[in-house]
Amino acid sequence: MSDSPSAQPDPGGDPLVRLRKVSKQYGKIAAVEPLDLDIYRGDFLAILGPSGCGKTTLLRLIGGFIAPTTGRIEIAGADVTRLAPERRPTNMVFQGYGLFPHMTVRQNIAYGLRIAKVRGAEFDQRIHDIMALVRLEEFAERSTDSLSGGQAQRVALARALVMRPQVLLLDEPLAALDLKLRKEMGEELRRIHRSIGGTFVFVTHDQGEALGLANRIAVMEDGNIVQEGGAEEVYSAPKTRFVSTFVGEANIFSGHREHGTVRLKAGVSIPDSGAAGPVIVVVRPEVIRLDADDAASDVILTGKLIDIIFSGPYVKFKFALDEGQQAVVHSSDLALRRKFSVGETVRIGWSLGDQRVLEDR
Ligand SMILES: Nc1ncnc2c1ncn2[C@@H]1O[C@H](COP(=O)(O)OP(=O)(O)OP(=O)(O)O)[C@@H](O)[C@H]1O
Ligand SMILES: [Mg+2]
Repeated sequence: MSDSPSAQPDPGGDPLVRLRKVSKQYGKIAAVEPLDLDIYRGDFLAILGPSGCGKTTLLRLIGGFIAPTTGRIEIAGADVTRLAPERRPTNMVFQGYGLFPHMTVRQNIAYGLRIAKVRGAEFDQRIHDIMALVRLEEFAERSTDSLSGGQAQRVALARALVMRPQVLLLDEPLAALDLKLRKEMGEELRRIHRSIGGTFVFVTHDQGEALGLANRIAVMEDGNIVQEGGAEEVYSAPKTRFVSTFVGEANIFSGHREHGTVRLKAGVSIPDSGAAGPVIVVVRPEVIRLDADDAASDVILTGKLIDIIFSGPYVKFKFALDEGQQAVVHSSDLALRRKFSVGETVRIGWSLGDQRVLEDR
Protein backbone atom coordinates (compact mmCIF):
# COMPACT_ATOMS: atom_id res chain seq x y z
CA MET A 1 0.00 0.00 0.00
CA SER A 2 1.15 3.52 -0.59
CA ASP A 3 1.38 5.73 2.45
CA SER A 4 -0.61 8.48 0.79
CA PRO A 5 -3.26 9.83 3.14
CA SER A 6 -5.66 10.34 0.29
CA ALA A 7 -7.97 7.49 -0.69
CA GLN A 8 -9.33 9.42 -3.64
CA PRO A 9 -8.93 7.57 -6.92
CA ASP A 10 -6.91 9.35 -9.52
CA PRO A 11 -8.48 8.64 -12.91
CA GLY A 12 -6.48 11.50 -14.41
CA GLY A 13 -3.15 9.69 -14.05
CA ASP A 14 -1.88 6.43 -15.52
CA PRO A 15 -3.76 3.36 -14.38
CA LEU A 16 -2.06 1.35 -11.65
CA VAL A 17 -3.34 -1.89 -13.19
CA ARG A 18 -3.86 -2.17 -16.92
CA LEU A 19 -5.34 -5.22 -18.61
CA ARG A 20 -5.28 -5.41 -22.39
CA LYS A 21 -7.10 -8.16 -24.33
CA VAL A 22 -6.71 -10.45 -21.34
CA SER A 23 -8.58 -13.75 -21.63
CA LYS A 24 -8.65 -17.17 -20.01
CA GLN A 25 -9.77 -20.27 -21.83
CA TYR A 26 -10.24 -23.65 -20.12
CA GLY A 27 -10.54 -26.11 -23.00
CA LYS A 28 -13.75 -25.05 -24.70
CA ILE A 29 -14.86 -22.85 -21.78
CA ALA A 30 -14.06 -19.17 -22.15
CA ALA A 31 -13.95 -18.22 -18.45
CA VAL A 32 -12.82 -14.69 -19.38
CA GLU A 33 -13.22 -13.30 -22.90
CA PRO A 34 -10.56 -10.89 -24.19
CA LEU A 35 -11.13 -7.74 -22.14
CA ASP A 36 -9.55 -4.43 -21.19
CA LEU A 37 -9.64 -2.96 -17.70
CA ASP A 38 -7.94 -0.01 -16.04
CA ILE A 39 -7.71 0.24 -12.25
CA TYR A 40 -6.52 3.52 -10.73
CA ARG A 41 -4.57 4.18 -7.56
CA GLY A 42 -7.02 4.65 -4.71
CA ASP A 43 -9.84 2.81 -6.46
CA PHE A 44 -12.24 0.62 -4.55
CA LEU A 45 -13.39 -1.39 -7.54
CA ALA A 46 -16.16 -3.98 -7.46
CA ILE A 47 -16.20 -6.76 -10.02
CA LEU A 48 -19.89 -7.59 -10.04
CA GLY A 49 -21.71 -10.38 -11.82
CA PRO A 50 -23.70 -13.57 -11.45
CA SER A 51 -22.22 -16.95 -10.53
CA GLY A 52 -19.94 -18.39 -13.19
CA CYS A 53 -19.43 -15.15 -15.13
CA GLY A 54 -15.64 -15.18 -14.58
CA LYS A 55 -15.11 -12.89 -11.57
CA THR A 56 -12.76 -15.16 -9.62
CA THR A 57 -10.85 -16.02 -12.79
CA LEU A 58 -10.33 -12.33 -13.52
CA LEU A 59 -9.11 -11.67 -9.97
CA ARG A 60 -6.73 -14.64 -10.14
CA LEU A 61 -5.36 -13.38 -13.43
CA ILE A 62 -4.55 -10.02 -11.82
CA GLY A 63 -2.97 -11.76 -8.82
CA GLY A 64 -0.94 -14.11 -11.01
CA PHE A 65 -2.45 -17.37 -9.73
CA ILE A 66 -3.32 -18.32 -13.28
CA ALA A 67 -1.73 -17.25 -16.56
CA PRO A 68 -3.87 -15.60 -19.22
CA THR A 69 -4.51 -17.37 -22.52
CA THR A 70 -4.09 -14.06 -24.35
CA GLY A 71 -3.27 -10.49 -23.44
CA ARG A 72 -1.05 -8.43 -21.24
CA ILE A 73 -1.24 -7.30 -17.61
CA GLU A 74 0.71 -4.31 -16.35
CA ILE A 75 0.98 -3.10 -12.77
CA ALA A 76 2.60 0.26 -11.99
CA GLY A 77 3.93 0.43 -15.55
CA ALA A 78 5.66 -2.98 -15.48
CA ASP A 79 4.62 -6.01 -17.50
CA VAL A 80 3.68 -8.69 -14.94
CA THR A 81 1.85 -11.03 -17.33
CA ARG A 82 4.18 -13.95 -16.63
CA LEU A 83 5.21 -13.08 -13.06
CA ALA A 84 4.40 -15.40 -10.15
CA PRO A 85 1.98 -14.08 -7.50
CA GLU A 86 4.69 -13.42 -4.90
CA ARG A 87 6.62 -11.28 -7.36
CA ARG A 88 3.65 -9.00 -8.05
CA PRO A 89 2.76 -5.99 -5.87
CA THR A 90 -0.60 -7.61 -5.19
CA ASN A 91 -2.05 -9.73 -2.43
CA MET A 92 -5.22 -11.74 -2.41
CA VAL A 93 -7.78 -12.61 0.24
CA PHE A 94 -9.41 -15.84 -0.91
CA GLN A 95 -13.02 -16.79 -0.62
CA GLY A 96 -13.17 -18.80 2.63
CA TYR A 97 -10.01 -16.96 3.82
CA GLY A 98 -7.59 -19.94 3.70
CA LEU A 99 -6.11 -19.25 7.15
CA PHE A 100 -3.43 -21.59 8.51
CA PRO A 101 -5.18 -23.74 11.11
CA HIS A 102 -3.53 -24.52 14.45
CA MET A 103 -1.64 -21.24 14.23
CA THR A 104 -2.41 -18.19 16.30
CA VAL A 105 -3.76 -15.00 14.83
CA ARG A 106 -0.34 -13.37 15.21
CA GLN A 107 1.44 -16.30 13.54
CA ASN A 108 -0.97 -16.17 10.62
CA ILE A 109 -0.39 -12.48 10.15
CA ALA A 110 3.38 -12.78 10.61
CA TYR A 111 3.79 -15.62 8.12
CA GLY A 112 4.32 -13.52 5.01
CA LEU A 113 6.69 -11.13 6.77
CA ARG A 114 8.84 -14.08 7.90
CA ILE A 115 9.01 -15.43 4.37
CA ALA A 116 9.97 -11.94 3.19
CA LYS A 117 12.65 -11.89 5.91
CA VAL A 118 11.34 -8.75 7.56
CA ARG A 119 12.86 -8.74 11.08
CA GLY A 120 13.45 -6.80 14.25
CA ALA A 121 11.72 -3.54 15.05
CA GLU A 122 10.13 -3.25 11.62
CA PHE A 123 8.59 -6.71 11.96
CA ASP A 124 7.12 -5.85 15.35
CA GLN A 125 5.89 -2.47 14.22
CA ARG A 126 4.14 -3.77 11.13
CA ILE A 127 2.37 -6.55 13.04
CA HIS A 128 1.35 -4.09 15.73
CA ASP A 129 0.04 -1.52 13.24
CA ILE A 130 -1.96 -3.99 11.22
CA MET A 131 -3.54 -5.59 14.30
CA ALA A 132 -4.61 -2.14 15.42
CA LEU A 133 -5.91 -1.28 11.97
CA VAL A 134 -8.17 -4.33 11.76
CA ARG A 135 -8.89 -4.24 15.50
CA LEU A 136 -7.53 -7.68 16.36
CA GLU A 137 -5.18 -6.87 19.25
CA GLU A 138 -7.10 -8.82 21.86
CA PHE A 139 -7.15 -11.94 19.66
CA ALA A 140 -3.42 -12.05 18.90
CA GLU A 141 -2.69 -15.27 20.76
CA ARG A 142 -5.93 -17.06 19.90
CA SER A 143 -5.84 -20.06 17.58
CA THR A 144 -7.54 -19.24 14.28
CA ASP A 145 -9.66 -22.38 14.69
CA SER A 146 -11.51 -20.67 17.52
CA LEU A 147 -12.50 -17.49 15.67
CA SER A 148 -15.91 -16.35 14.51
CA GLY A 149 -16.49 -15.65 10.81
CA GLY A 150 -16.00 -11.93 11.23
CA GLN A 151 -12.79 -12.36 13.21
CA ALA A 152 -11.42 -14.86 10.67
CA GLN A 153 -12.21 -12.34 7.95
CA ARG A 154 -10.18 -9.70 9.78
CA VAL A 155 -7.22 -12.06 10.11
CA ALA A 156 -7.32 -12.83 6.40
CA LEU A 157 -7.42 -9.10 5.69
CA ALA A 158 -4.57 -8.35 8.09
CA ARG A 159 -2.46 -11.16 6.66
CA ALA A 160 -2.76 -9.64 3.20
CA LEU A 161 -2.45 -5.99 4.25
CA VAL A 162 0.66 -6.50 6.37
CA MET A 163 2.53 -7.17 3.13
CA ARG A 164 1.60 -3.66 1.96
CA PRO A 165 0.43 -4.70 -1.49
CA GLN A 166 -0.15 -1.92 -3.99
CA VAL A 167 -3.34 -3.73 -4.95
CA LEU A 168 -5.43 -5.79 -2.55
CA LEU A 169 -7.58 -8.42 -4.25
CA LEU A 170 -10.62 -9.69 -2.32
CA ASP A 171 -12.75 -12.60 -3.54
CA GLU A 172 -16.26 -12.33 -2.10
CA PRO A 173 -14.83 -11.00 1.17
CA LEU A 174 -18.17 -10.76 2.95
CA ALA A 175 -20.06 -13.70 1.48
CA ALA A 176 -19.55 -16.01 4.46
CA LEU A 177 -20.90 -13.50 6.99
CA ASP A 178 -24.45 -12.97 8.18
CA LEU A 179 -26.28 -9.85 7.09
CA LYS A 180 -25.48 -7.69 10.12
CA LEU A 181 -21.81 -8.66 10.15
CA ARG A 182 -21.64 -8.15 6.39
CA LYS A 183 -22.74 -4.55 6.86
CA GLU A 184 -20.28 -3.98 9.69
CA MET A 185 -17.36 -5.54 7.84
CA GLY A 186 -18.29 -3.60 4.72
CA GLU A 187 -17.97 -0.38 6.68
CA GLU A 188 -14.70 -1.65 8.17
CA LEU A 189 -13.36 -2.30 4.69
CA ARG A 190 -14.23 1.24 3.66
CA ARG A 191 -12.57 2.65 6.76
CA ILE A 192 -9.41 0.59 6.18
CA HIS A 193 -9.34 1.52 2.52
CA ARG A 194 -9.61 5.20 3.42
CA SER A 195 -7.06 5.08 6.17
CA ILE A 196 -4.32 3.39 4.15
CA GLY A 197 -5.15 5.06 0.85
CA GLY A 198 -4.83 1.74 -0.93
CA THR A 199 -6.27 0.23 -4.07
CA PHE A 200 -8.84 -2.50 -3.46
CA VAL A 201 -10.47 -4.79 -6.02
CA PHE A 202 -13.24 -6.99 -4.73
CA VAL A 203 -15.45 -9.58 -6.30
CA THR A 204 -19.12 -9.84 -5.45
CA HIS A 205 -22.36 -11.13 -6.90
CA ASP A 206 -24.30 -8.78 -4.59
CA GLN A 207 -25.24 -5.53 -6.28
CA GLY A 208 -26.11 -3.85 -2.97
CA GLU A 209 -22.62 -4.60 -1.71
CA ALA A 210 -21.04 -3.29 -4.90
CA LEU A 211 -23.05 -0.05 -4.77
CA GLY A 212 -22.48 0.38 -1.05
CA LEU A 213 -18.73 -0.21 -0.99
CA ALA A 214 -17.18 0.60 -4.32
CA ASN A 215 -16.46 3.87 -6.04
CA ARG A 216 -16.26 2.03 -9.36
CA ILE A 217 -18.05 -1.04 -10.64
CA ALA A 218 -17.17 -3.41 -13.47
CA VAL A 219 -20.22 -5.49 -14.36
CA MET A 220 -19.43 -8.91 -15.83
CA GLU A 221 -21.64 -11.17 -17.91
CA ASP A 222 -20.45 -14.39 -19.58
CA GLY A 223 -16.75 -13.59 -19.31
CA ASN A 224 -17.07 -10.01 -20.54
CA ILE A 225 -17.06 -6.67 -18.77
CA VAL A 226 -20.31 -5.29 -20.12
CA GLN A 227 -20.14 -1.95 -18.32
CA GLU A 228 -17.57 -0.22 -16.18
CA GLY A 229 -17.73 3.15 -14.48
CA GLY A 230 -18.56 5.10 -11.36
CA ALA A 231 -21.01 3.32 -9.05
CA GLU A 232 -23.62 6.06 -9.46
CA GLU A 233 -23.16 6.16 -13.21
CA VAL A 234 -23.62 2.41 -13.62
CA TYR A 235 -26.78 2.59 -11.54
CA SER A 236 -28.29 5.65 -13.17
CA ALA A 237 -27.12 5.04 -16.73
CA PRO A 238 -27.08 1.28 -17.36
CA LYS A 239 -26.11 0.44 -20.92
CA THR A 240 -27.92 -2.88 -21.34
CA ARG A 241 -30.99 -4.71 -20.15
CA PHE A 242 -28.75 -7.05 -18.14
CA VAL A 243 -26.98 -4.21 -16.31
CA SER A 244 -30.28 -2.42 -15.59
CA THR A 245 -31.76 -5.45 -13.90
CA PHE A 246 -28.60 -6.79 -12.26
CA VAL A 247 -27.56 -3.48 -10.68
CA GLY A 248 -30.62 -2.40 -8.73
CA GLU A 249 -34.23 -3.05 -9.59
CA ALA A 250 -35.63 -1.77 -12.85
CA ASN A 251 -38.88 -1.56 -14.73
CA ILE A 252 -38.38 -2.61 -18.32
CA PHE A 253 -41.07 -1.46 -20.74
CA SER A 254 -40.86 -2.85 -24.26
CA GLY A 255 -41.51 -0.66 -27.24
CA HIS A 256 -40.57 0.27 -30.76
CA ARG A 257 -38.72 3.38 -31.91
CA GLU A 258 -39.41 5.03 -35.24
CA HIS A 259 -39.23 8.63 -36.55
CA GLY A 260 -38.09 10.03 -33.23
CA THR A 261 -40.84 8.40 -31.22
CA VAL A 262 -40.90 5.38 -28.96
CA ARG A 263 -44.26 3.66 -28.90
CA LEU A 264 -44.63 1.55 -25.79
CA LYS A 265 -46.70 -1.62 -25.86
CA ALA A 266 -48.73 0.07 -23.13
CA GLY A 267 -49.97 2.45 -25.81
CA VAL A 268 -48.16 5.67 -24.94
CA SER A 269 -45.66 7.54 -27.11
CA ILE A 270 -42.41 9.04 -25.88
CA PRO A 271 -40.19 11.38 -27.90
CA ASP A 272 -36.74 9.87 -28.38
CA SER A 273 -34.31 10.20 -31.26
CA GLY A 274 -32.28 7.19 -32.31
CA ALA A 275 -32.28 4.37 -34.78
CA ALA A 276 -35.52 2.64 -35.65
CA GLY A 277 -36.10 -0.74 -34.07
CA PRO A 278 -37.14 -2.52 -30.90
CA VAL A 279 -36.19 -0.72 -27.68
CA ILE A 280 -36.68 -1.01 -23.97
CA VAL A 281 -37.44 1.89 -21.66
CA VAL A 282 -35.75 1.44 -18.28
CA VAL A 283 -37.25 3.25 -15.30
CA ARG A 284 -36.11 2.81 -11.68
CA PRO A 285 -38.95 1.98 -9.26
CA GLU A 286 -38.15 4.96 -7.01
CA VAL A 287 -38.63 7.62 -9.71
CA ILE A 288 -42.17 6.55 -10.63
CA ARG A 289 -44.98 8.56 -9.07
CA LEU A 290 -48.32 7.21 -7.93
CA ASP A 291 -51.52 9.03 -8.79
CA ALA A 292 -49.59 10.70 -11.57
CA ASP A 293 -50.96 13.81 -13.26
CA ASP A 294 -49.98 15.45 -16.54
CA ALA A 295 -48.52 18.47 -14.81
CA ALA A 296 -45.80 16.53 -12.98
CA SER A 297 -45.24 13.49 -15.20
CA ASP A 298 -44.31 13.32 -18.90
CA VAL A 299 -45.20 9.65 -19.32
CA ILE A 300 -48.27 8.14 -17.69
CA LEU A 301 -49.37 4.52 -17.65
CA THR A 302 -52.44 2.99 -16.10
CA GLY A 303 -52.14 -0.16 -14.05
CA LYS A 304 -54.06 -2.36 -11.71
CA LEU A 305 -52.51 -2.53 -8.26
CA ILE A 306 -51.84 -6.22 -7.54
CA ASP A 307 -49.71 -6.09 -4.39
CA ILE A 308 -48.44 -3.73 -1.69
CA ILE A 309 -45.30 -4.94 0.05
CA PHE A 310 -43.94 -3.23 3.14
CA SER A 311 -40.13 -3.40 2.88
CA GLY A 312 -38.92 -1.42 5.88
CA PRO A 313 -37.60 1.91 4.58
CA TYR A 314 -39.93 1.87 1.58
CA VAL A 315 -43.18 0.42 0.27
CA LYS A 316 -43.27 -1.60 -2.93
CA PHE A 317 -46.35 -1.27 -5.15
CA LYS A 318 -46.78 -3.86 -7.89
CA PHE A 319 -48.92 -3.17 -10.92
CA ALA A 320 -50.27 -5.23 -13.78
CA LEU A 321 -50.35 -3.09 -16.90
CA ASP A 322 -52.94 -3.49 -19.62
CA GLU A 323 -50.86 -5.44 -22.09
CA GLY A 324 -49.52 -8.06 -19.69
CA GLN A 325 -46.41 -6.25 -18.46
CA GLN A 326 -45.74 -5.43 -14.84
CA ALA A 327 -44.48 -2.33 -13.09
CA VAL A 328 -42.98 -1.83 -9.65
CA VAL A 329 -42.98 1.47 -7.78
CA HIS A 330 -41.04 2.14 -4.57
CA SER A 331 -42.09 4.91 -2.25
CA SER A 332 -40.46 6.04 0.95
CA ASP A 333 -43.77 7.64 1.94
CA LEU A 334 -44.91 4.75 4.11
CA ALA A 335 -48.34 6.29 4.66
CA LEU A 336 -49.14 5.73 0.99
CA ARG A 337 -49.73 2.06 1.64
CA ARG A 338 -52.98 3.00 3.34
CA LYS A 339 -54.03 5.37 0.58
CA PHE A 340 -54.21 2.66 -2.11
CA SER A 341 -55.86 -0.74 -2.10
CA VAL A 342 -55.09 -3.86 -4.05
CA GLY A 343 -57.41 -4.16 -7.03
CA GLU A 344 -57.77 -0.48 -7.79
CA THR A 345 -56.62 1.17 -10.98
CA VAL A 346 -53.87 3.74 -10.54
CA ARG A 347 -52.08 6.14 -12.88
CA ILE A 348 -48.32 5.91 -12.56
CA GLY A 349 -45.90 8.29 -14.23
CA TRP A 350 -42.40 9.62 -14.57
CA SER A 351 -40.38 12.44 -16.11
CA LEU A 352 -38.54 12.00 -19.40
CA GLY A 353 -35.24 12.71 -17.66
CA ASP A 354 -35.74 9.69 -15.40
CA GLN A 355 -35.87 7.04 -18.11
CA ARG A 356 -33.22 5.34 -20.24
CA VAL A 357 -34.10 4.18 -23.72
CA LEU A 358 -31.94 1.25 -24.83
CA GLU A 359 -31.85 -0.81 -27.99
CA ASP A 360 -33.40 -4.17 -27.22
CA ARG A 361 -30.62 -6.64 -27.93
N1 LIG B 1 -9.85 -24.50 -13.37
C1 LIG B 1 -10.92 -24.47 -14.16
N2 LIG B 1 -11.11 -25.41 -15.09
C2 LIG B 1 -12.19 -25.40 -15.90
N3 LIG B 1 -13.15 -24.45 -15.86
C3 LIG B 1 -13.03 -23.49 -14.94
C4 LIG B 1 -11.91 -23.43 -14.05
N4 LIG B 1 -12.05 -22.35 -13.25
C5 LIG B 1 -13.21 -21.76 -13.64
N5 LIG B 1 -13.78 -22.43 -14.66
C6 LIG B 1 -15.04 -22.06 -15.34
O1 LIG B 1 -14.93 -20.73 -15.76
C7 LIG B 1 -16.16 -20.03 -15.56
C8 LIG B 1 -15.92 -18.83 -14.65
O2 LIG B 1 -15.58 -19.29 -13.34
P1 LIG B 1 -15.30 -18.29 -12.12
O3 LIG B 1 -14.91 -19.13 -10.98
O4 LIG B 1 -14.35 -17.26 -12.57
O5 LIG B 1 -16.74 -17.65 -11.91
P2 LIG B 1 -17.26 -16.66 -10.78
O6 LIG B 1 -17.86 -15.48 -11.49
O7 LIG B 1 -16.19 -16.40 -9.79
O8 LIG B 1 -18.45 -17.50 -10.11
P3 LIG B 1 -18.95 -17.59 -8.56
O9 LIG B 1 -19.75 -16.32 -8.34
O10 LIG B 1 -19.83 -18.79 -8.58
O11 LIG B 1 -17.74 -17.71 -7.68
C9 LIG B 1 -17.12 -21.05 -15.01
O12 LIG B 1 -17.86 -21.58 -16.07
C10 LIG B 1 -16.22 -22.10 -14.41
O13 LIG B 1 -16.84 -23.35 -14.40
MG1 LIG C 1 -15.99 -16.86 -7.73
